[in-house]
Amino acid sequence: MNTSALHAQLSQTLGCPQLPPSVGQHYQGKVRDTYRQGDRLLLVTSDRLSAFDHVLTTIPFKGEVLNRLTNFWFERTRHIVPNHVLDVPDPNVTVARACQPFAVEIVVRGYLTGSLWRDYQKGTHTAYGLPFPEGLRKDEAFPAPIFTPSTKAPKGQHDEPISEKEILARGLASARDWARITEAARALFLEGQKWARTRGLILVDTKYEFGKVGDDLYVIDEIHTPDSSRYWMADEYEARFSRGEDQRMLDKENLRQWLIRERGFQGHGPLPEIPEDVRVSTAQTYLRAYEQITGTPLVLEPGDVQARIEKNLRARGYL
Ligand SMILES: Nc1ncnc2c1ncn2[C@@H]1O[C@H](COP(=O)(O)OP(=O)(O)O)[C@@H](O)[C@H]1O
Ligand SMILES: [Mg+2]
Repeated sequence: MNTSALHAQLSQTLGCPQLPPSVGQHYQGKVRDTYRQGDRLLLVTSDRLSAFDHVLTTIPFKGEVLNRLTNFWFERTRHIVPNHVLDVPDPNVTVARACQPFAVEIVVRGYLTGSLWRDYQKGTHTAYGLPFPEGLRKDEAFPAPIFTPSTKAPKGQHDEPISEKEILARGLASARDWARITEAARALFLEGQKWARTRGLILVDTKYEFGKVGDDLYVIDEIHTPDSSRYWMADEYEARFSRGEDQRMLDKENLRQWLIRERGFQGHGPLPEIPEDVRVSTAQTYLRAYEQITGTPLVLEPGDVQARIEKNLRARGYL
């Protein structure tokens, strides 16, 4: 999609959806609005962009790209781990099995980078209770994926790193469930990495959430999206790594870096305003990510996202 079409969409993005109360009990997360209808949950993925745990702006078509991508991955992995998806009545909406979520996020990492690299340099990487060899280099691959879980903090609070021992001690998951969760997360991650490679990408790290219905375990929320994951360009990895250069990324770390570089913003102080051209170029990042990851071009229909969602939900009997 060209830049002018993306500019035109800036005024029609989905910030906070306004749906009639009959759509169900409402909860607003940073990016998704959920509506509970008995044992199912309508997840509306908005165009809101969050960075450093703050919602900063909206990005044209971001919600659609994320919802489509996550469903692409759920389709590809459902033979490995059951997921929460029941129906996709609109490009921005997933109807899911309402699960009892675990209050931990499972971060799986294939490489030493990002916040973990920053922690490693400071010596504060011990919170996960994992052994780390000395002398690792930035962006170095781990021999096998590692888990660096964090608590799922209530709204407005920051997630904290947590060790497996602490998860079990606090009863955030039983030993049996934790074993099932890590096994499922490992299998999903390896499958994600395998597919990413065929698309010229490295799935560097990602975050999963799991929930239960009765004793059945499901992967919930979103998987392998640019919001929950970091991807690098595979063909440049070795050369950049050996020269000690930053990797070429495919994710919102780009906007995070713009915030740090241009606004000195790292989550504290007044929220910076995001200029329109930065919103448009961020939209392009998301669209490129979709096409690079899936290998399929994305046909988008400009227009009022909110109105379309309402129409589709009515047509499918969710309203
Ligand atoms: N199938 C599900 N059952 C129960 N809760 C879910 C399910 N899928 C997603 N959720 C929850 O819905 C919310 C989605 O909104 P999101 O914007 O991602 O929130 P957050 O700000 O916590 O990241 C999250 O709290 C997530 O844990
Ligand atoms: Mg989330």
